[in-house]
Amino acid sequence: MKLENGQYAIGNHTVLEVAQTYGTPLYVYNMETIRDRVHELKEDIGQHPNTEFLYAIKANYNPHIVREIVQLGLGIDAVSLEEVHMGLACGALPPQIMFTGNNMTDHEMRTVHELGVLLNIGSLSRLRKYGRAFPGSRVSIRFNPNIGIASHETNITGGPDSKFGISFQAVAEVKAIAQEYGLHIVGVHQHIGSGWLRLREPILALDVILSIAKQFSGLEFVDVGGGFGVPYQPQENRLDIQTLGSQIAKRFTQFCSRYGKELVLRFEPGRYVVAESGHLITEVNTLKESISRKTIIGTDTGMNQLVRTAMYGSYHPIVNISNPEGMLQEYDVTGNICECADFFARDRMLSEVREGDLLSIDVVGAYGMSMASNYQLRGLPAEVLVDGDVVTVIRKREAFTDLLGRYDM
Ligand code: LLP
Repeated sequence: MKLENGQYAIGNHTVLEVAQTYGTPLYVYNMETIRDRVHELKEDIGQHPNTEFLYAIKANYNPHIVREIVQLGLGIDAVSLEEVHMGLACGALPPQIMFTGNNMTDHEMRTVHELGVLLNIGSLSRLRKYGRAFPGSRVSIRFNPNIGIASHETNITGGPDSKFGISFQAVAEVKAIAQEYGLHIVGVHQHIGSGWLRLREPILALDVILSIAKQFSGLEFVDVGGGFGVPYQPQENRLDIQTLGSQIAKRFTQFCSRYGKELVLRFEPGRYVVAESGHLITEVNTLKESISRKTIIGTDTGMNQLVRTAMYGSYHPIVNISNPEGMLQEYDVTGNICECADFFARDRMLSEVREGDLLSIDVVGAYGMSMASNYQLRGLPAEVLVDGDVVTVIRKREAFTDLLGRYDM
């Protein structure tokens, strides 16, 4: 979103005009940003010639967006059966999808296998069950390299207490199970956490997974997961994906020559692809002063529609798009949900806000709508996708009748 003639623009439209047409609260995505990010990943992270990207569909599973991403050449990283089905419905072929279900059921295991989608298994007990059910099959193994890093403590998925993956020390057990059931381990995988902006831990973790990989003959790929962070706070720098990509490519090339076979290197970015494309537009309906004289902004959205701040304390940039040049003042920005955790910013400097102004909460294209809920029986907001001139409603605003329709009354 960029400021043009005092107005925020998205594609060839102003955000104000889009919000006025479709109402608030409204998720607005810019397709051009998604294309740019995919292009950057391919250029900078994909420096090794055999690189593949699987889009972590959990970040944003709106089919209109997923379809475009699949058309840009990405596969799908799915963590539920429903995500597998969505990937297929959006045009991904079974071999382009990998299923990394956590604590998966027998039903999920069987259905995904029968769909021809590769399973990435993260526990010894599930690997045994898979071997028993489908001896002689291909499978990938998710390891925990005992290294974790993320934007928030809660998003770390590697390390001593993590529920994800099989311990890096359990290679012998994995091999024994594979041998017992004739399983072909075609991939090794790790995902150490989400939203990191430093290079050190991902590189260390790569070294760990490569040291695991060399203990398996017959691999087709090594998957180093997702996690590429984007800056949310003004002082944060962008992830140096060029340096990261060249260090990874160098190590992987050396590894392949030692391994004696050109393997595929896989990544599973979610946030990096979509986060910066999305804005949540909300109308200010209440301004009040707290007893301590803070100015509180009340909006028509809430933690049910964007939970990241309430859940992780995440920072999201906020812009008053109705008055972008106004005098800066300090505000707390809150939602309309009856919960104390329902806020989007504390002590934030914004250009003067008046009731009726529209705010844009930014960098919400990932884990915004995909984590939204109907808490307090509020319907989900509409979503629109802007691509140059074209504005498409890609999800209708949910009405009370939609919610009521789910119950057998
Ligand atoms: N691969 C696996 C196995 C994952 O579990 C995840 C994310 C990804 C890839 C993609 O990570 P990304 O590239 O998006 O960082 N709700 C949290 C993020 C949770 C991520 C969970 N797993 C948030 O709003 O920050």
